[in-house]
Amino acid sequence: AGADAGDGRADSPVVVVANRLPVDQVTDPDGTTRWQRSPGGLVTALEPFVADRGGAWVGWSGSAGEAPEPFESGGISLVPVPLSEDEVDRYYEGMSNASLWPLYHDVVEKPEYHRTWWDTYVQVNKRFADRTAEVAAEGAIVWVHDYQLQLVPAMLRQRRPDLTIGFFLHIPFPPYELFTQLPWRSAVVEGLLGADLVGFQRPSAAVNFVQLARRLHELPTRGATVEYDGRTVTARAFPISIDVAAFDELASSPEVVKRAEEIRAELGNPEKIVLGVDRLDYTKGIGVRLRAFEELLEDGAIEAPHTVLVQVATPSRERVEHYVHMRETIEQQVGHINGVYGSIGAPAVQYFNQSMPREELAALYRAADVMLVTPYKDGMNLVAKEYVAARGDLGGALVLSEFAGAAAELKQAFLVNPHDIAGVKNQLLRALRMEPKEGARRMRAMRRHLVRHDLDHWATSFFDALRAQV
Ligand code: ADP
Ligand code: G6P
Repeated sequence: AGADAGDGRADSPVVVVANRLPVDQVTDPDGTTRWQRSPGGLVTALEPFVADRGGAWVGWSGSAGEAPEPFESGGISLVPVPLSEDEVDRYYEGMSNASLWPLYHDVVEKPEYHRTWWDTYVQVNKRFADRTAEVAAEGAIVWVHDYQLQLVPAMLRQRRPDLTIGFFLHIPFPPYELFTQLPWRSAVVEGLLGADLVGFQRPSAAVNFVQLARRLHELPTRGATVEYDGRTVTARAFPISIDVAAFDELASSPEVVKRAEEIRAELGNPEKIVLGVDRLDYTKGIGVRLRAFEELLEDGAIEAPHTVLVQVATPSRERVEHYVHMRETIEQQVGHINGVYGSIGAPAVQYFNQSMPREELAALYRAADVMLVTPYKDGMNLVAKEYVAARGDLGGALVLSEFAGAAAELKQAFLVNPHDIAGVKNQLLRALRMEPKEGARRMRAMRRHLVRHDLDHWATSFFDALRAQV
């Protein structure tokens, strides 16, 4: 693998560009810095793909200030892009996570729009485009990712017309009526049209995008394509996945299976374990889950500690207001449920505001009788796919929101509308009471789908479609 190591040499044939590097620089209390794996589905999905191809990855280190020199890690050449404190405020926390994130997730929370945030978003997108233009080899394939970098495709094309440029949006893309709230809507559409291929999680998102190009920019469109600037841009769905075989293997390893048994014992050998695993984000519907669980306890339909809920929520975007607020609400809800339904040494809800090692997550998946995945809106939701991949024993049941991209594929899950608490309670009870034979049938069908639609399938289909464009 090679990138420009600072000497002006550009030799990477494949370059991934994403807001985050696959590793974050963290500073310990004693002042020493080290690297640890970055959070979220994007990194989970892409890291093995880039490593296999010996590519370069252009991204931010996760902390403000100067960027380290490019370095090699796990077969990937990492090219850090610096962000100042102000840029973290305005580009990352502001424009990306307080404007675009809520707007693209169907305004679950109200987006805020500030001109200073936008100006910084443009400035940072330029920096990413500049750095990428420096490391990409002649004729390289560049793959740009997600909502933080929507202007990069057009900026990069301007600097390097020789490149083949793909863009993939990991989150939902809203319909015309919502998207057009954005004061800088035209600039965003033009930024994306700089790519040869624009990929989305769902077909409806690709349709939304083509419709915008037509209605907002009066561009000629035909099916999935847009004519722009003498080029043809294609918009299509490529539902993302995980490394199913690797996760399956991890989850069936003797260590993980043993750890799953230990977890069950440590929880006091309950009859049923219900599990939630998320980044602590208001789109994930964690409050809905707690409410449904609490009402079932109240109704007497389930009883603590025979049934326990384990919720693992990784801290995320902790300086963005909506996140601060939601964390407080969730912690209050958990405290309330345990106050009423817990007993000494046996809380009804076990809540962890922590990130966990993959082995521990796999063991939790393996131990859980019911997995609750209830986002109000989610591009895909890899947690749902990880759970299915982890259940090689054909045990367990998945309760899944209709509004997660994964619902289009995991059709044998217990689908729910997270806005309908009565419906969530019903489906959770059905999942808890399901016959093992019925559960195995559902799990087998979902696993059959996943094995064929794994990470490699996703990345290869995107890459093949991108190459076919030029
Ligand atoms: P998002 O991309 O919005 O965070 P996804 O469900 O698509 O949501 O991806 C989340 C990824 O982060 C998954 O790979 C999941 O295993 C991982 N993850 C979520 N919560 C935790 C946690 N508490 N500890 C470790 N990893 C986690
Ligand atoms: C989602 C987004 C990613 C993002 C991740 C973690 O998966 O699609 O782009 O990296 O969440 O969020 P963070 O803000 O910590 O990078």
